[in-house]
Amino acid sequence: MDVLHIHGGSKLAGNVQVSGAKNAALPIFAAALLSEETCTIENVPDLSDIRFMAGILRHMGADVEQPAPGTWRITARKLNHVAPYDLVRKMRASICLLGPLVARLRKAYVSMPGGCVIGPRPIDLHLKGLAALGCQLSMRGGYMDIDAANLSGGYVYLGGRHGPTVTGTANIVMAAVLAPGISRIESAACEPEIVDLCNMLVAMGAHIEGIGSHYLKITGVKALRGCTHKVVPDRIEAGTFLVAGAMTKSDLTVNGLIPGHMRALLDKLEEAGVPCTIEPDAKRITVHGTRAALNPVELITLPHPGFPTDLQAQFCAMMSLTPGLSVITERIYPNRYMHVPELLRMGANIAIEGANAVVKGVKSLSGAPVMASDLRASAALVLAGLAANGETWVQRIYHLDRGYEKLENKLAALGATINRMHESEMPKELLDDA
Ligand code: EPU
Repeated sequence: MDVLHIHGGSKLAGNVQVSGAKNAALPIFAAALLSEETCTIENVPDLSDIRFMAGILRHMGADVEQPAPGTWRITARKLNHVAPYDLVRKMRASICLLGPLVARLRKAYVSMPGGCVIGPRPIDLHLKGLAALGCQLSMRGGYMDIDAANLSGGYVYLGGRHGPTVTGTANIVMAAVLAPGISRIESAACEPEIVDLCNMLVAMGAHIEGIGSHYLKITGVKALRGCTHKVVPDRIEAGTFLVAGAMTKSDLTVNGLIPGHMRALLDKLEEAGVPCTIEPDAKRITVHGTRAALNPVELITLPHPGFPTDLQAQFCAMMSLTPGLSVITERIYPNRYMHVPELLRMGANIAIEGANAVVKGVKSLSGAPVMASDLRASAALVLAGLAANGETWVQRIYHLDRGYEKLENKLAALGATINRMHESEMPKELLDDA
C-alpha cells in the first residue's frame, strides 16, 4: 500500500487547476446506459472510482473506452440487469445503476449497498421514488428485485431526515426520463452535480423542468440519443485547495472552478477572516492565506447550497489551528468524524459530542504517522500534515486516490514537500506505532 510522506511547514504558492467532479462523473457514467447510442464524456478525473465505474459498466454489457486522457466513450447497445454484491459493495455510487436499468430494461436485480465508514447509508428514499414511478420492489438475499414493467410518471417527495438525497435524486430522475407520463420530484437535491447530470440528460433529449431547484418536473420520452458532455469542475477539490492555502498561510490561485458552486465555503472563509479574490468570469479564486486572520467559526453542514459535508473534515483541520473555540455540527452524516482521532495524534484539541465537534485551536500541530479512513478524512490529514511541524505519513491513501486526481503532484507543484512512497519504505518503528 502507498503512503504519502509530507514535510510540513513549506509555504505554497502559484496556480492549481481543478479536475472534473467525481460526484458528477459517476452518475453521468451511469446515465450513459440510458441510450443505445454513444455518449462521450469529457473532463473526467483520473481516479480509481472512475476506473471502477467503467469496469462495472463493462460488466453490465456496455462498451467503454478511453480514447484520450479525461475523455471516455460509453455505448450501451446491450445491457444486463444484474449488478452483483461484489461490485456494488466496493463502490456506493454504483447504486446509480438502479435508475438507468429500470428505465432501459424495465427490470433490475441490484445488490443492496450496505453502510460505510461515514455511517449508515440507507437507500429507502431511492426505493420510495421507484415505487412512486410504478416499480414493484422485493428484497431477497440482500438484493433488490425490481419489476418495472409498469414504469410510469408519478409524484415523489425525496426529503429525508437529513434533507434531500443526492444519488437518490439522480436515480429517480434517470428512471423518470424514460417513464411514460409526467413525474414530479419534490425536495429534489440541487447540488451542482445533479444539475450537471440533468444538463447531460437534456442534451440526450430528456424533458426536465426546474433544473437546479428542489422541484423537478419530468416528461418521459420514448428514447434518448447519445451526446457529448463535459463534467463540471470539482467544487470539493477546489475547496480543499482553498483551505490548504488558508491553513498554510499561503497565497494560491485555484483555476477552472465555478465560484457560484462554492458560496457556502467562501462565506465561511470570509467569516474566518481568510481573504479571497473571486473572479467568476476567469473561473478562479485566489486565497490570501498570508493575510488570514483565522477566527473561530460555527459550521453546520447542510444540503446544497449549505456548507458541504464533503468539506467538513478539511475545514475541521483548519479550525484545529484557529485560535479560540470553533463548533461543527454535522447534519448530513452525524458520525463523520473519523479524521478527529488522527488529528488528535497530531496535537489537535477536539471533543466530539454526538453530531457536534468542539475544536479548540492549538498553536501548532506536530507531524505523525496517521491513518486515512475515508476520502475526505484523508484530505484533512494531508492538509494537517502540510501545516504541521515535522514529518507526517498518511497511510491507506487508496481512499484519497478514489476522489483526488494526482493530489500530491498538484500540491508539490505549489511548493509542498510531499511524495508518495510504498509503506515498506516507511521507518519500521512508525509502521508499528501507527
Ligand atoms: N439518506 C436517507 N435515505 C436515503 C438516502 C439518503 O436517509 O435513501 C440520508 C443519508 O443517510 C444522509 C443524507 O440522507 O444522511 C444524504 O445522503 P445522500 O443520499 O444525499 O448521499 P449520497 O447520494 O449517498 C452523495 C455523495 C457523497 C456526499 C453526499 C452528501 C456521490 C457519489 N456521493 O452521497 O460524497 O457526501 O452525497 O452530499 O455523489 C464523497 O465524495 O466523499 C462523498 C461521500
